[in-house]
Amino acid sequence: MGIDIRTVGIVGAGQMGSGIAHVCAMAGLDVRLNDRDPARIRSGLATIDGNLARQVAKGTIAEDLRRGAVARIVGAESFDDLAVCDLVIEAATEDEATKRQIFSALCGSLKPDALVATNTSSISITRLAASTDRPERFIGIHFMNPVPVMQLVELIRGIATEDPTYESAKAFIAKLGKTSTMSEDFPAFIVNRILLPMINEAIYTLYEGVGSVESIDTAMKLGANHPMGPLQLADFIGLDTCLSVMQVLYEGLADSKYRPCPLLVKYVEAGWLGRKVKRGFYDYRGETPVPTR
Ligand SMILES: NC(=O)c1ccc[n+]([C@@H]2O[C@H](COP(=O)([O-])OP(=O)(O)OC[C@H]3O[C@@H](n4cnc5c(N)ncnc54)[C@H](O)[C@@H]3O)[C@@H](O)[C@H]2O)c1
Repeated sequence: MGIDIRTVGIVGAGQMGSGIAHVCAMAGLDVRLNDRDPARIRSGLATIDGNLARQVAKGTIAEDLRRGAVARIVGAESFDDLAVCDLVIEAATEDEATKRQIFSALCGSLKPDALVATNTSSISITRLAASTDRPERFIGIHFMNPVPVMQLVELIRGIATEDPTYESAKAFIAKLGKTSTMSEDFPAFIVNRILLPMINEAIYTLYEGVGSVESIDTAMKLGANHPMGPLQLADFIGLDTCLSVMQVLYEGLADSKYRPCPLLVKYVEAGWLGRKVKRGFYDYRGETPVPTR
């Protein structure tokens, strides 16, 4: 038997953490939103407010639902504020050392039977589980961006993840109205194992001068029926996250076909991380995005 999840803690109030908070609150769950930076908690809460208000304006949700959801999300400045949670989902920066530090500091504040999950895009669930005090209650719950829009959630079991943990996570995803798939614990799981090498190849296509940003994105939108071009998608995901996933594939599978494109490395070194900083393969500071190459 799994556990009934009513209160969800989220560590990391960035793009993903605030999206996860949004969908949990809309499903009637109580949410505690944590970040090491209190300003990020405030901006995460403001983003959720703005997105919910837009849904009301578009007529996709009713005003009383919005009000209920907003009231269910509370900022949490310390891990002790997560002591009431049945499940805590870590959605902090895609960096293994950061995540390991979070888990070792977090677990002592939680109920002994609370489940712990990570939203990592690529890092080994088994390895992250080992930095907790409860590997059997640890699982990968990988949401897609933007969380309120995307239907899929990948569930990834580590070597020690027990059946009730998996069943609880599966029921939790169903409660959010989303569809889960199961992936084995291999680098980048299913979606990113396929998607990120495609994005990296698009960056190589740009790097080698085969096409401009505009021609590459138009080619894949109109020629492969993708809703978004691969460079636009890279900006959307965040170029630091893209690079980090490629490094995990490259190191984890030891195959040179996954080597990150030097141009991707250069953009990350420049701090041009995509939409979240208003500049990546496109410049988002004006009215319409302008290609940066
Ligand atoms: N962006 C995507 O498309 C996407 C999709 C699926 C999964 N993910 C995964 O979700 C996670 C978060 O990605 P994001 O795009 O939201 O990144 P982001 O940069 O928008 O947010 C990360 C947040 O983590 C916070 N943080 C860093 N260290 C922390 C710590 N020690 N304690 C608490 N908070 C801390 C940062 O202050 C920041 O607010 C990553 O693991 C990423 O791989 C991202």
